Amino acid sequence: MNLKTKIALIGFGKMGREIDALCRESENFEVVSVSYKNITDKLDLKGIAKADVAIDFTSKDIVLENIEKVSRLGINMVIGTTGWHEDLDSVKKIVKKYKTGLLYGQNFSAGANIFFKITAFAAGLFAKFSEYDAYGMEIHHKAKLDSPSGTALKIRDEIKKNSPYKINFTSIRAGRNPGFHEVVFDSPADGITLSHQAYNRTGFAKGALLAALFLKNKKGVYSFEDALK
Ligand SMILES: NC(=O)c1ccc[n+]([C@@H]2O[C@H](COP(=O)([O-])OP(=O)(O)OC[C@H]3O[C@@H](n4cnc5c(N)ncnc54)[C@H](OP(=O)(O)O)[C@@H]3O)[C@@H](O)[C@H]2O)c1
Repeated sequence: MNLKTKIALIGFGKMGREIDALCRESENFEVVSVSYKNITDKLDLKGIAKADVAIDFTSKDIVLENIEKVSRLGINMVIGTTGWHEDLDSVKKIVKKYKTGLLYGQNFSAGANIFFKITAFAAGLFAKFSEYDAYGMEIHHKAKLDSPSGTALKIRDEIKKNSPYKINFTSIRAGRNPGFHEVVFDSPADGITLSHQAYNRTGFAKGALLAALFLKNKKGVYSFEDALK
């Protein structure tokens, strides 16, 4: 009996290929469908219908269309694509309508999720001292489309929950960096700099597969934090 979790990959760029490579080495996952090997391809709806979970790493321009079409098939989705979260309410309606499951996250690496908590905690401490200010900086490879990154927006939102800081991020798009985020707490007397550097895309890909396992037989909308718990 084949007990592997069947994965449909939507998007076969840097992240899609990384997840495919992990699945090939894994006894727990099998890729049964790949959509958008090229931007001119259509969604492989026949293949996706055979999957336990579809994982979307495409772009903000196509992700909402993908969510509508795949949810209509009754297939659960992990959404790694960023830059669309202002449409979360309409996505929730789609998931409710088709009684499926969907999990989304700005950053699927364990280290980045710990970084969210560390920066939010630090902000709470610094906010007690009026002389401190906070700001951020992020660097990504030159092909990244959204700016600031979804991770930067998540850091900003988490910090806002704990402090009055409205963090502005400076974004650099150049070179090959898979993701660097820095938060600085600064005063006339001293400062603390906290940073997270992704060395490659393996952490994101592992997180996406963890999310797929979590979501396999669930209904409703979840964030990556739910899977980490
Ligand atoms: N949540 C996380 O942990 C995490 C981590 C890394 C990245 N991301 C996000 O995931 C997304 C993908 O990242 P990536 O680095 O894999 O990007 P990428 O290398 O550019 O790959 C994107 C894939 O989607 C396809 N695609 C893009 N726009 C399309 C469209 N309009 N119609 C059909 N196919 C389209 C691309 O096809 P072509 O190759 O033909 O263009 C490619 O296969 C981005 O939003 C990124 O910010 C999230």
